[in-house]
Amino acid sequence: MTAFCVLEVKGLSIKFGDFTAVDNISFCVNRGEIFGFLGANGAGKTTTIRMLCGLLVPTSGSALVGGLGFGDGGKGIKKIVGYMSQKFTLYNDLTVGENLEFAAGLRKLEPAYAKKRRKELFDLIDFNKPLSSKVASLPGGIKQELALAASMLHDPEIVFLDEPTSGVAPASRARFWSLIRRITGLGKTVIVTTHYMDEAEQCGRIALMRTGRLIALGSPEELKRSAFPGPMAELDFKGADAAGYISGLGKAGGLLELSPQGMRWHAAFSDKAAMDAALAALPRSVSVSLIKPSLEDVFIRLVEGAER
Ligand SMILES: Nc1ncnc2c1ncn2[C@@H]1O[C@H](COP(=O)(O)OP(=O)(O)OP(=O)(O)O)[C@@H](O)[C@H]1O
Ligand SMILES: [Mg+2]
Repeated sequence: MTAFCVLEVKGLSIKFGDFTAVDNISFCVNRGEIFGFLGANGAGKTTTIRMLCGLLVPTSGSALVGGLGFGDGGKGIKKIVGYMSQKFTLYNDLTVGENLEFAAGLRKLEPAYAKKRRKELFDLIDFNKPLSSKVASLPGGIKQELALAASMLHDPEIVFLDEPTSGVAPASRARFWSLIRRITGLGKTVIVTTHYMDEAEQCGRIALMRTGRLIALGSPEELKRSAFPGPMAELDFKGADAAGYISGLGKAGGLLELSPQGMRWHAAFSDKAAMDAALAALPRSVSVSLIKPSLEDVFIRLVEGAER
């Protein structure tokens, strides 16, 4: 393990029968990092997380999770990681207190320790509802914060959050992300999956997965720079039939990507000269503005582009 690497993954793969769900992935996560997994449905994010939580045994490869390997069948790893699964993990018909007692029981925590941790975690998530509230009665965002607290009762070093904000209102998503930052501020490491690009933007680094493979890894800015080495323009054809313009743009050399974005198009070029030549051929009615690529553009180019 290198100096700050709390999670070191080398050539990790898992097969279900003949199907390779995770295919030879390698990466390292630093202590205190917010590390994101991004990828389409079925890319292998959850399966990767379940292996790294000691819940699934890899077919090949190795990993050190907080310095621990899979030698004991994942037992040691389970003790030092928290896992908030993609499926809602609290019981709606139990109270807040009962849910946390249940979670503490699964972890065989001493009641006094569990109570102390409950108090610390309530402070962390700013939870101020009565312990006797039924989970079903809580707003979606608060439920997710409580599920996060339940996954951290045993004070794990590394916390895995699998789509923790899916279906949660935007204001509550923002609150949840400030909570994530608070957790990494305590020196914990957070590994999180999301389908929301605004959330991915908030990760220190992102691992982009496609069909079980890791296809890109870096900070949001690094991913943008490597996917789009040249400039990008946003084109508005103002309702005119775009097809003719688009095939013209495609014929010019140096067009890397052309994708619809709502009513407009994003055109990425290899360099400025290629862009100037292509844009000069467009009629004046087309409005053009230079833009910076977003993570959405990166996703379209690397994930959807490969599928076309
Ligand atoms: N136990 C299993 N047996 C067989 N196939 C499985 C099993 N678990 C997962 N898979 C398959 O492995 C692939 C990866 O699934 P996984 O749940 O890891 O994807 P994901 O990236 O988390 O997707 P999503 O964004 O929808 O949550 C999928 O094709 C899935 O159907
Ligand atoms: Mg998943």
